[in-house]
Amino acid sequence: MISSEHIPFNIPFSSFTDQKPGTSGLRKSTKQFQQTHYLESFIEAIFRTLPGVDGGVLVLGGDGRYGNRSAIDVILPMAAAHGIKKVITTVDGILSTPAASNLIRLNKAVGGIILSASHNSGGIEGDFGVKLNGANGGPASESLTNEIFICTQTLNEYKSISCTSIPLDSPGVYKISSMIVEVIDGIEDYILLMQNLFDFDQISSLISNDFPFAFDALNAVTGPYANRLFENLLGAPQGTVRKGIPLEDFGGCHPDPNLTYAKDLADLLLKGNQLMFGAACDGDGDRNMILGQGCFVNPSDSLAVLTSNANCVPAYCDGLFGVARSMPTSAAVDVVAKDLGINCYETPTGWKFFGNLLDAQKITICGEESFGTGSNHVREKDGIWAVLFWLQILANKKCSVLDLMKEHWAFYGRHYYSRHDYESIDSETAHSLYERLEALLPSSIGQHFGNSIINHADNFNYKDPIDNSNTAGQGLRILLEDNSRVIVRLSGTGTKGATLRIYLEKYVNPKGNLTQNPQVALADLISSIDSFAEIKLRTQMSHPTVIT
Ligand code: G1P
Ligand code: ZN
Repeated sequence: MISSEHIPFNIPFSSFTDQKPGTSGLRKSTKQFQQTHYLESFIEAIFRTLPGVDGGVLVLGGDGRYGNRSAIDVILPMAAAHGIKKVITTVDGILSTPAASNLIRLNKAVGGIILSASHNSGGIEGDFGVKLNGANGGPASESLTNEIFICTQTLNEYKSISCTSIPLDSPGVYKISSMIVEVIDGIEDYILLMQNLFDFDQISSLISNDFPFAFDALNAVTGPYANRLFENLLGAPQGTVRKGIPLEDFGGCHPDPNLTYAKDLADLLLKGNQLMFGAACDGDGDRNMILGQGCFVNPSDSLAVLTSNANCVPAYCDGLFGVARSMPTSAAVDVVAKDLGINCYETPTGWKFFGNLLDAQKITICGEESFGTGSNHVREKDGIWAVLFWLQILANKKCSVLDLMKEHWAFYGRHYYSRHDYESIDSETAHSLYERLEALLPSSIGQHFGNSIINHADNFNYKDPIDNSNTAGQGLRILLEDNSRVIVRLSGTGTKGATLRIYLEKYVNPKGNLTQNPQVALADLISSIDSFAEIKLRTQMSHPTVIT
Protein backbone atom coordinates (compact mmCIF):
# COMPACT_ATOMS: atom_id res chain seq x y z
CA MET A 1 0.00 0.00 0.00
CA ILE A 2 1.19 3.50 -0.61
CA SER A 3 1.19 6.68 1.31
CA SER A 4 0.77 9.71 -0.87
CA GLU A 5 -0.78 13.10 -1.02
CA HIS A 6 -2.46 12.08 -4.28
CA ILE A 7 -2.11 15.54 -5.66
CA PRO A 8 -1.35 15.74 -9.36
CA PHE A 9 1.37 18.25 -10.04
CA ASN A 10 2.84 19.79 -13.14
CA ILE A 11 6.59 19.87 -13.52
CA PRO A 12 8.01 22.37 -16.01
CA PHE A 13 10.97 21.62 -18.26
CA SER A 14 12.46 22.83 -21.52
CA SER A 15 11.50 20.66 -24.49
CA PHE A 16 13.73 18.04 -26.12
CA THR A 17 14.21 17.86 -29.85
CA ASP A 18 15.50 14.34 -30.41
CA GLN A 19 12.52 12.27 -29.32
CA LYS A 20 11.51 11.00 -32.73
CA PRO A 21 10.35 7.40 -32.36
CA GLY A 22 11.75 5.02 -34.97
CA THR A 23 10.34 1.69 -36.14
CA SER A 24 10.59 0.30 -32.60
CA GLY A 25 9.78 3.33 -30.47
CA LEU A 26 12.20 5.77 -28.91
CA ARG A 27 15.64 4.20 -28.61
CA LYS A 28 18.59 6.21 -27.27
CA SER A 29 21.67 5.77 -25.16
CA THR A 30 20.99 5.19 -21.46
CA LYS A 31 22.84 8.44 -20.80
CA GLN A 32 20.45 10.40 -22.98
CA PHE A 33 17.54 8.90 -21.10
CA GLN A 34 19.19 9.99 -17.86
CA GLN A 35 18.82 13.67 -18.76
CA THR A 36 16.43 15.32 -16.35
CA HIS A 37 12.80 14.96 -17.48
CA TYR A 38 13.78 13.24 -20.76
CA LEU A 39 11.85 10.04 -20.07
CA GLU A 40 9.03 11.98 -18.42
CA SER A 41 8.52 14.23 -21.41
CA PHE A 42 8.24 11.31 -23.82
CA ILE A 43 5.81 9.51 -21.51
CA GLU A 44 3.80 12.72 -21.15
CA ALA A 45 3.55 12.92 -24.95
CA ILE A 46 2.35 9.30 -25.04
CA PHE A 47 -0.31 9.90 -22.41
CA ARG A 48 -1.52 13.02 -24.18
CA THR A 49 -1.70 11.27 -27.54
CA LEU A 50 -2.66 7.61 -27.06
CA PRO A 51 -6.42 7.17 -27.54
CA GLY A 52 -8.38 5.94 -24.49
CA VAL A 53 -5.91 6.86 -21.75
CA ASP A 54 -8.55 8.39 -19.48
CA GLY A 55 -10.31 5.42 -17.87
CA GLY A 56 -8.28 2.86 -19.84
CA VAL A 57 -6.06 -0.08 -18.93
CA LEU A 58 -2.31 0.03 -19.66
CA VAL A 59 0.25 -2.79 -19.73
CA LEU A 60 3.74 -1.91 -18.48
CA GLY A 61 6.99 -3.89 -18.25
CA GLY A 62 10.35 -4.34 -19.84
CA ASP A 63 13.34 -6.52 -20.64
CA GLY A 64 15.12 -5.98 -17.31
CA ARG A 65 17.85 -3.72 -18.61
CA TYR A 66 19.32 -0.86 -16.59
CA GLY A 67 16.61 1.76 -16.11
CA ASN A 68 13.69 -0.71 -16.36
CA ARG A 69 12.73 -0.52 -12.69
CA SER A 70 13.27 3.22 -12.26
CA ALA A 71 11.25 3.94 -15.41
CA ILE A 72 8.31 1.99 -13.94
CA ASP A 73 8.55 4.19 -10.84
CA VAL A 74 8.30 7.27 -13.07
CA ILE A 75 5.52 5.97 -15.33
CA LEU A 76 3.09 4.64 -12.70
CA PRO A 77 2.40 7.99 -10.96
CA MET A 78 2.25 9.74 -14.34
CA ALA A 79 -0.33 7.18 -15.50
CA ALA A 80 -2.39 7.89 -12.35
CA ALA A 81 -2.20 11.64 -12.96
CA HIS A 82 -3.51 11.08 -16.50
CA GLY A 83 -6.59 9.19 -15.34
CA ILE A 84 -5.60 5.65 -16.33
CA LYS A 85 -7.95 3.24 -14.55
CA LYS A 86 -5.55 0.33 -14.16
CA VAL A 87 -1.93 -0.49 -14.95
CA ILE A 88 -0.99 -4.14 -15.27
CA THR A 89 2.70 -4.55 -14.53
CA THR A 90 4.82 -7.55 -13.67
CA VAL A 91 7.02 -9.04 -10.97
CA ASP A 92 10.42 -7.30 -11.18
CA GLY A 93 9.04 -5.40 -14.18
CA ILE A 94 10.03 -8.36 -16.38
CA LEU A 95 7.87 -8.69 -19.49
CA SER A 96 8.91 -9.80 -22.95
CA THR A 97 7.58 -7.94 -25.98
CA PRO A 98 5.39 -10.84 -27.22
CA ALA A 99 4.08 -11.47 -23.69
CA ALA A 100 3.20 -7.76 -23.46
CA SER A 101 1.35 -7.99 -26.76
CA ASN A 102 -0.62 -10.93 -25.38
CA LEU A 103 -1.48 -9.09 -22.14
CA ILE A 104 -2.70 -6.03 -24.05
CA ARG A 105 -5.05 -8.22 -26.08
CA LEU A 106 -6.21 -10.36 -23.15
CA ASN A 107 -7.03 -7.35 -20.99
CA LYS A 108 -8.43 -5.14 -23.74
CA ALA A 109 -5.88 -2.52 -22.78
CA VAL A 110 -5.59 0.78 -24.63
CA GLY A 111 -1.95 -0.08 -25.16
CA GLY A 112 1.30 -1.03 -23.55
CA ILE A 113 4.64 0.55 -22.75
CA ILE A 114 7.59 -1.81 -23.13
CA LEU A 115 10.88 -0.63 -21.66
CA SER A 116 13.48 -2.03 -24.00
CA ALA A 117 16.01 -1.19 -26.66
CA SER A 118 15.43 -4.68 -28.07
CA HIS A 119 18.68 -6.27 -29.24
CA ASN A 120 20.85 -3.22 -28.42
CA SER A 121 23.29 -3.53 -25.54
CA GLY A 122 22.19 -2.39 -22.09
CA GLY A 123 23.65 -0.86 -18.94
CA ILE A 124 24.87 2.66 -18.23
CA GLU A 125 27.09 2.54 -21.32
CA GLY A 126 24.40 0.88 -23.44
CA ASP A 127 20.96 1.83 -24.69
CA PHE A 128 17.49 2.21 -23.28
CA GLY A 129 14.17 2.46 -25.05
CA VAL A 130 10.46 3.01 -24.75
CA LYS A 131 8.24 1.07 -27.12
CA LEU A 132 4.58 1.90 -27.40
CA ASN A 133 2.07 -0.71 -28.50
CA GLY A 134 -1.52 0.03 -29.42
CA ALA A 135 -4.81 -1.60 -28.48
CA ASN A 136 -4.36 -4.45 -30.99
CA GLY A 137 -1.13 -5.42 -29.18
CA GLY A 138 1.13 -4.35 -32.02
CA PRO A 139 3.67 -1.55 -32.40
CA ALA A 140 2.06 1.89 -32.52
CA SER A 141 1.19 3.04 -36.02
CA GLU A 142 3.35 5.54 -37.84
CA SER A 143 0.62 8.19 -37.61
CA LEU A 144 0.46 7.77 -33.81
CA THR A 145 4.24 7.91 -33.35
CA ASN A 146 4.32 11.03 -35.55
CA GLU A 147 1.68 12.66 -33.37
CA ILE A 148 3.68 11.77 -30.26
CA PHE A 149 6.78 13.33 -31.74
CA ILE A 150 4.91 16.52 -32.64
CA CYS A 151 3.60 16.62 -29.08
CA THR A 152 7.13 16.36 -27.60
CA GLN A 153 8.08 19.46 -29.57
CA THR A 154 5.64 21.74 -27.80
CA LEU A 155 5.55 20.25 -24.31
CA ASN A 156 6.72 22.39 -21.47
CA GLU A 157 5.48 20.43 -18.48
CA TYR A 158 4.32 16.98 -17.43
CA LYS A 159 1.78 15.69 -14.96
CA SER A 160 2.51 13.28 -12.13
CA ILE A 161 1.44 12.37 -8.62
CA SER A 162 3.50 12.24 -5.47
CA CYS A 163 3.65 8.66 -4.15
CA THR A 164 6.04 6.01 -2.91
CA SER A 165 7.40 3.25 -5.09
CA ILE A 166 5.17 0.18 -5.67
CA PRO A 167 6.91 -3.08 -4.64
CA LEU A 168 7.39 -5.42 -7.61
CA ASP A 169 8.94 -8.38 -5.82
CA SER A 170 5.75 -10.45 -5.84
CA PRO A 171 2.22 -10.31 -7.27
CA GLY A 172 -0.12 -7.86 -5.56
CA VAL A 173 -2.70 -5.14 -6.02
CA TYR A 174 -2.05 -1.51 -5.09
CA LYS A 175 -3.57 1.89 -5.63
CA ILE A 176 -2.11 5.22 -6.62
CA SER A 177 -4.85 7.78 -6.14
CA SER A 178 -7.83 6.12 -7.84
CA MET A 179 -5.64 4.07 -10.24
CA ILE A 180 -5.24 0.34 -9.60
CA VAL A 181 -1.78 -1.18 -10.06
CA GLU A 182 -1.92 -4.92 -10.57
CA VAL A 183 1.45 -6.63 -10.27
CA ILE A 184 1.19 -10.01 -11.97
CA ASP A 185 3.50 -12.86 -12.88
CA GLY A 186 4.51 -11.81 -16.40
CA ILE A 187 5.23 -15.37 -17.51
CA GLU A 188 2.02 -17.27 -16.75
CA ASP A 189 -0.41 -15.94 -19.38
CA TYR A 190 2.23 -16.32 -22.07
CA ILE A 191 2.76 -19.97 -21.18
CA LEU A 192 -0.98 -20.62 -21.28
CA LEU A 193 -1.07 -19.09 -24.75
CA MET A 194 1.75 -21.37 -25.93
CA GLN A 195 -0.06 -24.39 -24.47
CA ASN A 196 -3.09 -23.47 -26.56
CA LEU A 197 -1.05 -23.34 -29.76
CA PHE A 198 1.28 -26.32 -29.52
CA ASP A 199 1.11 -30.00 -28.62
CA PHE A 200 3.21 -29.90 -25.46
CA ASP A 201 3.10 -33.67 -24.96
CA GLN A 202 4.70 -34.26 -28.33
CA ILE A 203 7.40 -31.63 -27.75
CA SER A 204 8.03 -33.02 -24.30
CA SER A 205 8.46 -36.54 -25.62
CA LEU A 206 11.20 -35.21 -27.90
CA ILE A 207 13.13 -32.95 -25.54
CA SER A 208 12.93 -35.03 -22.39
CA ASN A 209 14.41 -38.04 -24.22
CA ASP A 210 17.93 -37.89 -25.51
CA PHE A 211 17.60 -34.68 -27.49
CA PRO A 212 20.32 -32.45 -26.05
CA PHE A 213 19.64 -28.84 -26.92
CA ALA A 214 20.64 -25.42 -25.69
CA PHE A 215 18.58 -22.28 -25.38
CA ASP A 216 20.62 -19.10 -24.86
CA ALA A 217 18.68 -16.22 -23.30
CA LEU A 218 21.75 -13.95 -23.60
CA ASN A 219 21.16 -12.75 -19.99
CA ALA A 220 17.99 -11.04 -21.15
CA VAL A 221 14.23 -11.28 -20.76
CA THR A 222 13.51 -14.77 -22.13
CA GLY A 223 15.46 -16.59 -19.38
CA PRO A 224 12.52 -16.88 -16.94
CA TYR A 225 10.12 -17.85 -19.75
CA ALA A 226 12.50 -20.48 -21.13
CA ASN A 227 13.30 -21.94 -17.73
CA ARG A 228 9.67 -22.45 -16.90
CA LEU A 229 8.75 -23.73 -20.35
CA PHE A 230 11.63 -25.92 -21.43
CA GLU A 231 13.01 -27.19 -18.14
CA ASN A 232 10.04 -27.13 -15.75
CA LEU A 233 7.12 -27.91 -18.05
CA LEU A 234 8.57 -29.78 -21.00
CA GLY A 235 11.18 -31.75 -19.11
CA ALA A 236 14.41 -30.62 -20.81
CA PRO A 237 17.43 -31.40 -18.61
CA GLN A 238 18.62 -28.72 -16.21
CA GLY A 239 21.21 -26.53 -17.85
CA THR A 240 19.39 -26.54 -21.20
CA VAL A 241 18.68 -22.84 -20.66
CA ARG A 242 21.89 -20.84 -20.65
CA LYS A 243 22.41 -17.27 -19.49
CA GLY A 244 18.89 -17.52 -18.13
CA ILE A 245 18.81 -14.71 -15.54
CA PRO A 246 18.03 -11.22 -16.87
CA LEU A 247 20.91 -8.86 -15.99
CA GLU A 248 20.79 -5.07 -16.16
CA ASP A 249 23.72 -4.95 -18.58
CA PHE A 250 23.08 -8.40 -20.12
CA GLY A 251 26.39 -9.45 -18.58
CA GLY A 252 28.18 -7.22 -21.08
CA CYS A 253 26.71 -9.23 -24.00
CA HIS A 254 25.01 -7.73 -26.96
CA PRO A 255 21.60 -9.45 -26.72
CA ASP A 256 21.22 -10.01 -30.45
CA PRO A 257 20.77 -13.64 -31.54
CA ASN A 258 22.99 -13.84 -34.59
CA LEU A 259 26.22 -15.59 -35.50
CA THR A 260 28.33 -12.70 -34.23
CA TYR A 261 26.68 -11.87 -30.93
CA ALA A 262 25.53 -15.38 -29.98
CA LYS A 263 28.84 -16.89 -31.04
CA ASP A 264 29.18 -19.22 -28.01
CA LEU A 265 25.98 -20.96 -28.94
CA ALA A 266 26.76 -20.95 -32.66
CA ASP A 267 30.15 -22.57 -32.00
CA LEU A 268 28.53 -25.30 -29.90
CA LEU A 269 26.26 -26.26 -32.79
CA LEU A 270 28.44 -25.52 -35.78
CA LYS A 271 31.74 -26.87 -34.44
CA GLY A 272 30.64 -29.45 -31.87
CA ASN A 273 28.57 -32.60 -32.11
CA GLN A 274 27.01 -32.81 -28.64
CA LEU A 275 23.84 -30.85 -29.32
CA MET A 276 20.97 -31.55 -31.69
CA PHE A 277 19.38 -28.12 -31.58
CA GLY A 278 20.21 -24.60 -30.46
CA ALA A 279 18.20 -21.41 -30.18
CA ALA A 280 18.62 -17.91 -28.82
CA CYS A 281 16.41 -14.87 -28.36
CA ASP A 282 17.14 -11.16 -28.15
CA GLY A 283 16.90 -8.63 -25.31
CA ASP A 284 13.12 -8.29 -25.29
CA GLY A 285 12.31 -11.78 -26.59
CA ASP A 286 10.88 -11.05 -30.02
CA ARG A 287 13.79 -12.30 -32.15
CA ASN A 288 15.04 -15.87 -32.54
CA MET A 289 17.98 -17.71 -34.04
CA ILE A 290 17.67 -21.40 -34.91
CA LEU A 291 20.60 -23.79 -35.24
CA GLY A 292 20.91 -27.51 -35.79
CA GLN A 293 23.99 -29.66 -35.51
CA GLY A 294 26.31 -28.29 -38.20
CA CYS A 295 23.54 -26.09 -39.55
CA PHE A 296 22.58 -22.45 -39.22
CA VAL A 297 19.03 -21.75 -40.39
CA ASN A 298 18.84 -18.37 -42.00
CA PRO A 299 15.70 -16.56 -40.84
CA SER A 300 14.21 -16.30 -44.33
CA ASP A 301 14.49 -20.08 -44.67
CA SER A 302 13.07 -20.49 -41.18
CA LEU A 303 9.94 -18.59 -42.21
CA ALA A 304 9.60 -20.84 -45.26
CA VAL A 305 10.06 -24.03 -43.20
CA LEU A 306 7.48 -22.95 -40.60
CA THR A 307 5.03 -22.18 -43.39
CA SER A 308 5.52 -25.45 -45.21
CA ASN A 309 5.26 -27.47 -41.96
CA ALA A 310 2.46 -25.50 -40.30
CA ASN A 311 0.30 -28.61 -40.42
CA CYS A 312 2.48 -30.11 -37.62
CA VAL A 313 1.14 -27.51 -35.16
CA PRO A 314 -2.39 -27.87 -33.73
CA ALA A 315 -3.07 -24.11 -34.00
CA TYR A 316 -2.28 -24.01 -37.72
CA CYS A 317 -3.18 -27.47 -38.94
CA ASP A 318 -6.42 -26.26 -40.53
CA GLY A 319 -4.44 -24.12 -42.97
CA LEU A 320 -3.10 -20.59 -43.19
CA PHE A 321 -4.96 -17.47 -44.37
CA GLY A 322 -1.78 -16.33 -46.09
CA VAL A 323 1.77 -15.31 -45.23
CA ALA A 324 3.84 -12.12 -45.35
CA ARG A 325 7.48 -11.20 -45.33
CA SER A 326 9.32 -7.91 -45.20
CA MET A 327 10.73 -6.78 -48.54
CA PRO A 328 14.42 -7.59 -47.79
CA THR A 329 13.49 -11.11 -46.57
CA SER A 330 14.25 -13.76 -49.20
CA ALA A 331 11.54 -15.16 -51.43
CA ALA A 332 11.92 -18.66 -49.91
CA VAL A 333 8.48 -18.33 -48.32
CA ASP A 334 6.95 -17.06 -51.59
CA VAL A 335 7.72 -20.39 -53.23
CA VAL A 336 6.08 -22.32 -50.38
CA ALA A 337 3.04 -20.04 -50.43
CA LYS A 338 2.65 -20.62 -54.16
CA ASP A 339 2.77 -24.36 -53.60
CA LEU A 340 0.17 -24.12 -50.81
CA GLY A 341 -2.03 -21.88 -52.96
CA ILE A 342 -2.07 -19.02 -50.44
CA ASN A 343 -1.20 -15.32 -50.82
CA CYS A 344 2.21 -13.99 -49.88
CA TYR A 345 2.45 -10.26 -49.09
CA GLU A 346 5.63 -8.17 -49.29
CA THR A 347 5.75 -5.36 -46.71
CA PRO A 348 8.36 -2.78 -45.69
CA THR A 349 10.82 -3.59 -42.90
CA GLY A 350 9.25 -3.40 -39.44
CA TRP A 351 6.66 -5.52 -37.66
CA LYS A 352 3.99 -2.85 -37.63
CA PHE A 353 3.30 -3.40 -41.33
CA PHE A 354 2.03 -6.91 -40.61
CA GLY A 355 -0.60 -5.63 -38.15
CA ASN A 356 -3.30 -4.71 -40.68
CA LEU A 357 -2.85 -7.97 -42.58
CA LEU A 358 -3.10 -10.00 -39.36
CA ASP A 359 -6.12 -8.04 -38.10
CA ALA A 360 -7.88 -8.48 -41.46
CA GLN A 361 -7.14 -12.24 -41.43
CA LYS A 362 -5.19 -12.00 -44.67
CA ILE A 363 -2.20 -13.74 -43.11
CA THR A 364 -1.51 -16.20 -40.29
CA ILE A 365 2.31 -16.36 -40.27
CA CYS A 366 4.81 -13.62 -41.08
CA GLY A 367 8.48 -12.86 -40.69
CA GLU A 368 11.55 -10.82 -41.38
CA GLU A 369 15.10 -11.72 -42.32
CA SER A 370 16.24 -10.03 -39.11
CA PHE A 371 15.45 -13.11 -36.98
CA GLY A 372 11.79 -12.23 -36.52
CA THR A 373 8.94 -14.70 -36.99
CA GLY A 374 5.44 -14.68 -35.61
CA SER A 375 1.78 -15.38 -36.20
CA ASN A 376 -1.69 -14.11 -35.46
CA HIS A 377 -1.44 -15.30 -31.81
CA VAL A 378 -0.06 -11.85 -30.88
CA ARG A 379 0.85 -8.72 -32.84
CA GLU A 380 4.61 -8.90 -32.33
CA LYS A 381 7.28 -11.26 -33.53
CA ASP A 382 7.81 -13.96 -30.96
CA GLY A 383 11.15 -15.66 -30.29
CA ILE A 384 10.07 -18.46 -27.96
CA TRP A 385 7.04 -19.22 -30.15
CA ALA A 386 9.42 -19.79 -33.08
CA VAL A 387 11.57 -22.14 -30.98
CA LEU A 388 8.51 -24.15 -29.91
CA PHE A 389 7.34 -24.26 -33.55
CA TRP A 390 10.70 -25.71 -34.61
CA LEU A 391 10.68 -28.24 -31.78
CA GLN A 392 7.14 -29.28 -32.76
CA ILE A 393 8.23 -29.87 -36.36
CA LEU A 394 11.30 -31.85 -35.29
CA ALA A 395 9.21 -33.91 -32.84
CA ASN A 396 6.70 -34.60 -35.57
CA LYS A 397 9.11 -35.38 -38.39
CA LYS A 398 11.70 -37.11 -36.23
CA CYS A 399 14.61 -35.74 -38.22
CA SER A 400 17.55 -33.40 -37.72
CA VAL A 401 17.51 -29.71 -38.60
CA LEU A 402 20.01 -30.31 -41.39
CA ASP A 403 17.95 -33.13 -42.91
CA LEU A 404 14.85 -30.97 -42.76
CA MET A 405 16.64 -28.12 -44.56
CA LYS A 406 18.04 -30.46 -47.21
CA GLU A 407 14.60 -31.94 -47.80
CA HIS A 408 13.14 -28.44 -48.05
CA TRP A 409 15.71 -27.24 -50.60
CA ALA A 410 15.45 -30.44 -52.61
CA PHE A 411 11.75 -29.74 -53.07
CA TYR A 412 11.56 -25.95 -53.36
CA GLY A 413 15.07 -24.99 -54.42
CA ARG A 414 17.37 -22.87 -52.28
CA HIS A 415 17.43 -19.09 -51.83
CA TYR A 416 21.04 -18.41 -50.93
CA TYR A 417 20.90 -15.38 -48.70
CA SER A 418 23.10 -13.14 -46.63
CA ARG A 419 22.95 -9.74 -44.97
CA HIS A 420 26.06 -7.61 -44.63
CA ASP A 421 25.89 -4.82 -42.04
CA TYR A 422 28.30 -1.92 -41.91
CA GLU A 423 27.77 -0.41 -38.46
CA SER A 424 28.63 2.96 -36.91
CA ILE A 425 29.39 4.67 -40.22
CA ASP A 426 29.57 8.42 -40.20
CA SER A 427 25.99 9.48 -40.88
CA GLU A 428 26.81 11.87 -43.71
CA THR A 429 28.94 9.24 -45.48
CA ALA A 430 26.14 6.71 -45.25
CA HIS A 431 23.49 9.08 -46.53
CA SER A 432 25.57 10.31 -49.44
CA LEU A 433 26.39 6.71 -50.45
CA TYR A 434 22.69 5.87 -50.34
CA GLU A 435 21.59 8.97 -52.24
CA ARG A 436 24.20 8.49 -54.92
CA LEU A 437 23.10 4.89 -55.42
CA GLU A 438 19.45 5.88 -55.56
CA ALA A 439 20.24 8.44 -58.26
CA LEU A 440 22.07 5.79 -60.30
CA LEU A 441 19.23 3.25 -60.24
CA PRO A 442 17.08 4.43 -63.18
CA SER A 443 19.99 4.35 -65.63
CA SER A 444 21.24 0.99 -64.31
CA ILE A 445 18.35 -0.99 -65.78
CA GLY A 446 19.65 -3.25 -68.56
CA GLN A 447 23.24 -3.05 -67.27
CA HIS A 448 25.34 -6.09 -66.30
CA PHE A 449 25.49 -6.84 -62.58
CA GLY A 450 27.58 -9.85 -61.54
CA ASN A 451 26.60 -12.77 -63.75
CA SER A 452 23.25 -11.29 -64.64
CA ILE A 453 21.50 -8.14 -65.87
CA ILE A 454 19.47 -5.60 -63.92
CA ASN A 455 15.86 -5.72 -65.03
CA HIS A 456 14.30 -3.59 -62.31
CA ALA A 457 15.69 -1.06 -59.84
CA ASP A 458 13.78 1.30 -57.54
CA ASN A 459 13.18 2.55 -54.05
CA PHE A 460 10.50 0.26 -52.56
CA ASN A 461 7.10 1.82 -52.13
CA TYR A 462 4.34 0.04 -50.18
CA LYS A 463 0.63 0.49 -50.55
CA ASP A 464 -1.14 -1.13 -47.60
CA PRO A 465 -3.83 -3.39 -49.11
CA ILE A 466 -6.13 -2.87 -46.11
CA ASP A 467 -6.10 0.89 -45.45
CA ASN A 468 -4.52 1.97 -48.77
CA SER A 469 -1.91 4.08 -46.95
CA ASN A 470 1.29 4.65 -48.84
CA THR A 471 4.81 4.25 -47.40
CA ALA A 472 7.61 5.36 -49.71
CA GLY A 473 11.40 5.11 -49.60
CA GLN A 474 11.67 1.70 -47.93
CA GLY A 475 14.94 0.51 -49.47
CA LEU A 476 16.80 0.40 -52.78
CA ARG A 477 16.09 -2.72 -54.80
CA ILE A 478 18.22 -4.11 -57.59
CA LEU A 479 16.37 -7.02 -59.18
CA LEU A 480 18.21 -9.19 -61.68
CA GLU A 481 17.09 -11.25 -64.63
CA ASP A 482 18.05 -14.53 -62.93
CA ASN A 483 15.80 -13.65 -59.93
CA SER A 484 18.77 -12.63 -57.78
CA ARG A 485 18.29 -9.46 -55.72
CA VAL A 486 20.42 -6.95 -53.88
CA ILE A 487 18.71 -4.58 -51.45
CA VAL A 488 20.38 -1.59 -49.81
CA ARG A 489 18.86 0.05 -46.71
CA LEU A 490 19.87 2.35 -43.90
CA SER A 491 18.89 1.04 -40.48
CA GLY A 492 16.22 2.85 -38.52
CA THR A 493 17.15 1.33 -35.17
CA GLY A 494 20.86 2.04 -34.65
CA THR A 495 21.91 4.62 -32.09
CA LYS A 496 25.53 5.30 -33.14
CA GLY A 497 26.09 6.93 -36.53
CA ALA A 498 24.42 5.03 -39.36
CA THR A 499 24.18 1.34 -40.21
CA LEU A 500 24.19 0.31 -43.86
CA ARG A 501 22.51 -3.00 -44.60
CA ILE A 502 23.16 -4.94 -47.82
CA TYR A 503 20.83 -7.88 -48.46
CA LEU A 504 21.94 -10.46 -51.02
CA GLU A 505 19.85 -13.23 -52.50
CA LYS A 506 20.28 -15.81 -55.27
CA TYR A 507 17.87 -18.60 -56.17
CA VAL A 508 19.11 -22.05 -57.19
CA ASN A 509 16.52 -24.57 -58.37
CA PRO A 510 16.30 -28.10 -56.93
CA LYS A 511 18.56 -29.47 -59.65
CA GLY A 512 21.33 -26.94 -58.95
CA ASN A 513 24.11 -26.90 -56.35
CA LEU A 514 22.26 -26.77 -53.03
CA THR A 515 25.18 -27.20 -50.63
CA GLN A 516 27.42 -24.19 -51.24
CA ASN A 517 28.60 -21.79 -48.57
CA PRO A 518 26.25 -18.79 -49.00
CA GLN A 519 29.17 -16.32 -49.11
CA VAL A 520 30.61 -18.31 -52.04
CA ALA A 521 27.25 -18.66 -53.79
CA LEU A 522 26.73 -14.90 -53.46
CA ALA A 523 30.30 -13.83 -54.25
CA ASP A 524 29.52 -12.18 -57.59
CA LEU A 525 26.66 -10.16 -56.06
CA ILE A 526 28.87 -9.14 -53.12
CA SER A 527 31.63 -7.78 -55.33
CA SER A 528 29.21 -6.19 -57.81
CA ILE A 529 27.33 -4.20 -55.18
CA ASP A 530 30.61 -3.11 -53.62
CA SER A 531 31.83 -1.59 -56.85
CA PHE A 532 28.42 -0.21 -57.86
CA ALA A 533 27.73 1.48 -54.50
CA GLU A 534 31.43 2.18 -53.68
CA ILE A 535 30.89 0.71 -50.22
CA LYS A 536 34.47 -0.02 -49.14
CA LEU A 537 35.77 3.13 -50.79
CA ARG A 538 33.29 5.45 -49.16
CA THR A 539 33.04 3.82 -45.70
CA GLN A 540 36.75 2.98 -45.54
CA MET A 541 35.70 -0.37 -44.05
CA SER A 542 37.33 -3.44 -45.53
CA HIS A 543 34.68 -5.83 -44.12
CA PRO A 544 31.11 -5.66 -42.91
CA THR A 545 30.75 -5.48 -39.10
CA VAL A 546 28.25 -8.34 -39.08
CA ILE A 547 27.66 -10.98 -41.73
CA THR A 548 24.55 -13.08 -41.37
C1 G1P B 1 15.84 -3.85 -37.63
C2 G1P B 1 15.48 -4.98 -38.55
C3 G1P B 1 14.00 -5.00 -38.81
C4 G1P B 1 13.25 -5.07 -37.47
C5 G1P B 1 13.71 -3.95 -36.56
C6 G1P B 1 13.11 -4.08 -35.16
O1 G1P B 1 15.49 -2.62 -38.22
O2 G1P B 1 16.19 -4.89 -39.76
O3 G1P B 1 13.67 -6.08 -39.62
O4 G1P B 1 11.87 -4.98 -37.67
O5 G1P B 1 15.13 -3.99 -36.42
O6 G1P B 1 13.47 -5.29 -34.54
P1 G1P B 1 16.56 -1.70 -38.98
O7 G1P B 1 17.68 -1.45 -38.00
O8 G1P B 1 17.04 -2.50 -40.15
O9 G1P B 1 15.78 -0.48 -39.38
ZN1 ZN C 1 13.67 -7.28 -29.98
